[in-house]
Amino acid sequence: MATKDSLTIVDNRTGKSYEVPISDGSIKAMDLRQIRTGPEDFGLLSYDPAFTNTASTRSKVTFIDGDKGILWYRGYPIEQLAEKTTFLEVAYLILQGELPTQKQLDEWTWQVTHHTWVHENVKKFMDGFHHDAHPMGMFISTVAALSTFYPDAKVNADKGRRDLQILRLVAKVPTIAAFAFRHILGQAYAYPDNDLSYVGNFLNMLFKTTELKYKPEPAIERALDVLFILHADHEQNCSANAMRAIGSSEVDPYSALAGAAAALYGPLHGGANEAVLRMLRSIGSNARIPEFIRQVKGGEAKLMGFGHRVYKNYDPRAKIIKKMADEVFAVTRPSPLIGIARELEKIALEDEYFVSRKLYPNVDFYSGMIYEALGFPVEMFPVLFAIPRTTGWLAQWQEMRDDPEQKIARPRQLYTGYTQRDVVPMGKRG
Ligand code: CMC
Repeated sequence: MATKDSLTIVDNRTGKSYEVPISDGSIKAMDLRQIRTGPEDFGLLSYDPAFTNTASTRSKVTFIDGDKGILWYRGYPIEQLAEKTTFLEVAYLILQGELPTQKQLDEWTWQVTHHTWVHENVKKFMDGFHHDAHPMGMFISTVAALSTFYPDAKVNADKGRRDLQILRLVAKVPTIAAFAFRHILGQAYAYPDNDLSYVGNFLNMLFKTTELKYKPEPAIERALDVLFILHADHEQNCSANAMRAIGSSEVDPYSALAGAAAALYGPLHGGANEAVLRMLRSIGSNARIPEFIRQVKGGEAKLMGFGHRVYKNYDPRAKIIKKMADEVFAVTRPSPLIGIARELEKIALEDEYFVSRKLYPNVDFYSGMIYEALGFPVEMFPVLFAIPRTTGWLAQWQEMRDDPEQKIARPRQLYTGYTQRDVVPMGKRG
């Protein structure tokens, strides 16, 4: 008799029955391989384009319950982390598994702060980009170029060496992002200021001009810090999967992280907040919202910043950002789009079309308006996402490197091309 924690599969092609163990609510795809029609048969494969129902790893980093609208990093609810911690505490938590003690935080902060500088040749490398180069393209290429500055990163089986690269990456991505921003403005780069916080220093490198000492506005510094916390990790999304897949070849983490950032660059992933801004601008006024909603329901438009593959409830990150928007707009010019966004959300949340499809605001609905109010052009939005997500990518990479079940990522395919055929000489090809 079959055990309770198993699945009995009957292959109707052969009439044979198989018992496959179930553990953690899953079966192992490799257990299907034994199901064959005969000795020539390779064995049964599972087919899952886009991995919509395939767990590719065990992970202890981030948990999402999409139905309940829950997001935890290492077990801590995102709401508590956003209220009670700083980004560097969260980065430590995500990478090390526990929140730091004061002593550990001081040491971590000192280490990160003292790795923020980049080699002068990195700066020269960035100078080579065209004046209107996209900052995300610069970010991706420069992170990849870091691998040439740290050839020791090639050997990453050793945890000590890995930790050093992690530190370098967490510390240097704000510098690279800020240099990319200054490059498109045609302004001289501002060097890191080690007296400032992680985010305070980033703001300094972005916005410092002639003042001797840049002083970040505390409300803005805190708002950006919270946005960094909210974007630090999101389990096995497209870019985390890219980080793991590339890293599984044992390449250095700079090259793998450049690949992850490239995955983030796409409009279906890190680019939606820009689309929200464009949508709100095109709606233009509250009076035009009903007409826009009609278009969405008619399939002529999409309500950008709404809906999520995993969340079928209010994205917990969106709730926090919505609340924070007022605090930011109190010290910046309020976004002219916020009134339209709030009214649009109100109408959508009461409308049967959105309610029945469980479409709620996601993280991108309000974040773009805050970035805009902070003075960022839309091209910088994915870069602002990539800075905190670097921590998540590195935690996923580190977990993958330590996991004895992981190997080089190598999916199977269902071949649909020709069977063998012979090459026809050039003169006889039709
Ligand atoms: N506006 C209008 N209708 C929508 C929307 C939307 N934003 N999202 C989904 N739907 C409809 C969709 O047309 C479908 O309707 P029907 O059943 O009648 O065909 C139904 O809802 C289910 O949608 P789906 O396309 O099967 O859902 P999905 O899980 O494949 O897509 C999504 C998720 C995020 C790609 C999608 O909701 C979307 O395109 N949203 C707008 C873009 C956006 O805000 N993206 C940011 C995601 S959060 C950032 C991140 O994690 O990267």
